Amino acid sequence: MSGIVGYIGKRKAKPILLDCLERLDYRGYDSAGLAISDLKQIEIRKTEGRIKDLRDLLLVEPMESGVLGIGHTRWATHGNPSSVNAHPLGGCTNQFVVAHNGIIENYPRLKQELVKKGHTFTTDTDTEVIPHLLEENDTGDFEETVCKVLPLLKGSYALAIMSASHPNQIIAVSQDNPFVIGFGKEETFLTSDIPALLSYTREFYPIKNGEIALLTPDKVTIKTCCGEILSPNHITAAYNPQDMMLQDYDHFMLKEIFEQPKAVEETLKDRLDADGVRLPELEDVLTDERLQNVRKIHIVASGTSYHSGMIGKKVMDHLLEIPVSVSYSSDFHDEHPTLSESNLVIFLSQSGETADTLSALREAKRHGCTVIAVTNTAGSTITRKADCTILTKAGPEMAVASTKSYTAQITLLMVLTIWLADKTGGAGEKDVSDLLRSLARLKQDVESTLIMTKDAIDQFAQVTYDQDHLFLIGRGFDHVLALEGALKLQEVAYIHADAYAAGEMKHGTMALITPGVPVIALATQPHVLDKTISNIKEVKAREAFVVGITTVDDELVESVVDEVMYIPSTHPFLMPILAAIPLQLLAYYSGTVRGHDVDRPRNLAKSLTVE
Ligand code: G6P
Repeated sequence: MSGIVGYIGKRKAKPILLDCLERLDYRGYDSAGLAISDLKQIEIRKTEGRIKDLRDLLLVEPMESGVLGIGHTRWATHGNPSSVNAHPLGGCTNQFVVAHNGIIENYPRLKQELVKKGHTFTTDTDTEVIPHLLEENDTGDFEETVCKVLPLLKGSYALAIMSASHPNQIIAVSQDNPFVIGFGKEETFLTSDIPALLSYTREFYPIKNGEIALLTPDKVTIKTCCGEILSPNHITAAYNPQDMMLQDYDHFMLKEIFEQPKAVEETLKDRLDADGVRLPELEDVLTDERLQNVRKIHIVASGTSYHSGMIGKKVMDHLLEIPVSVSYSSDFHDEHPTLSESNLVIFLSQSGETADTLSALREAKRHGCTVIAVTNTAGSTITRKADCTILTKAGPEMAVASTKSYTAQITLLMVLTIWLADKTGGAGEKDVSDLLRSLARLKQDVESTLIMTKDAIDQFAQVTYDQDHLFLIGRGFDHVLALEGALKLQEVAYIHADAYAAGEMKHGTMALITPGVPVIALATQPHVLDKTISNIKEVKAREAFVVGITTVDDELVESVVDEVMYIPSTHPFLMPILAAIPLQLLAYYSGTVRGHDVDRPRNLAKSLTVE
């Protein structure tokens, strides 16, 4: 949420900053701004809206060309989206100019004190206290002033700071908020997210808590807050810039839905064979001895990753003899007061940067739990905090609504469950060998599902474009799937979609079923098919318009629904992957037919780095 970029070098900063901001705008896109120095003075331009609005503003109010600057694209937390609240922000005099991601939790008190000292505030943001504090504590030495102010701030931040008295420098700091330096040839970049810079460099250094990075046109110095100069190890990003292009697709969301066969293939590569699975990433930490002591497994995640976690819990419940719970990251603190060294906690996060998930991870570590991160983003914060990491290999996900990383997460959770079952005992041999066989042909099944459902779903979205309410029902795994399908429809189509456990409708929600209301009934689990059919009949009796999603080998659902959509049949544990595809497509086509920007839905952002 919110994105910062920075540039310092020999080229003109403005086009580079705008280009990088455009690549970063999935982190927030309600307002944007630039601060650029021509080595004599700093100029600022800000606007409500997206980067294209900033480009339009710059046509009317051009900026002198400069070779260093910072830019920001915002997801509002404090203060509405407006040009006034957009970053970069100055204080009373614009002596210091700041772009900030995160939240300054103690800003009300700081603001009160600064107002008493005569500072005038012009925005509703928490961020504005920072440039005022810098003015208040200005010693004339830029670095020293920043070091005086940082201990006064409580909360999380990535900060890019410029100073009018030092117009050839940028200072960057980070506290529990991702901020990365990119090293080019005779030029240096800053970014909140590596993909924004991949056309410029592959060499990066993530700034750590307590470090301060001083950028000048000639060099980058990274110090600890005590002044000790560090020689940081660079990381090399593995992503291919081509992966971040739309190619022949109209939207990233559709491209990413169609990249799911590849996401499955890559995630399983070198991890699966006929005899079992391999996860060498875990072996140093999860030794046999440590595993013998695991008494409880927690799965923790947010958003779509939480739904993958719910599927993971159900599979682990079947195959392991260890109790498993699943929590929202934001609720984890409340739900598990008795964490201990005998707990294994699995954190799922596509981005590896979600603040709620990182905060829950710190809590788990504080209690001595063993922590595994499952993430799609190598080098992300979660990989540095966890005891060990297993990477989903879905490739960069650019659309705000998560699709291929959901599929890759569930795929990897299957592998992890088989691995844990093998080490801890519990699972029957047949259960595992059936699942292994199905995993081996999962890529083909995902491909077939895309082919079988794409056109039918497109048509269904066209005929239901005037519906604002929709229900999804299912039992067990299908209920989790319903939750994920509803989330997708809410996110990108802005449809009031609600998911219910099919057997629970009669206990209340049935009151909402009126003639013609669309209901998507998920019927992919053979062992509960008869009961699901009874539940479908109950809503049909209230004249709902029911679309059933079932497997090709089913012969019963068709006769009880208005329309049926068939998908391939695979192991029941993997049906939540296949059946998610028509729901993702439905959200996509329903969003586009309503004219929404499906890649950048209103009020949302791709990675939420505030709690
Ligand atoms: C945001 C995104 C969702 C995502 C959630 C968790 O809300 O819009 O698509 O599922 O964050 O993100 P994570 O990166 O932790 O999986």
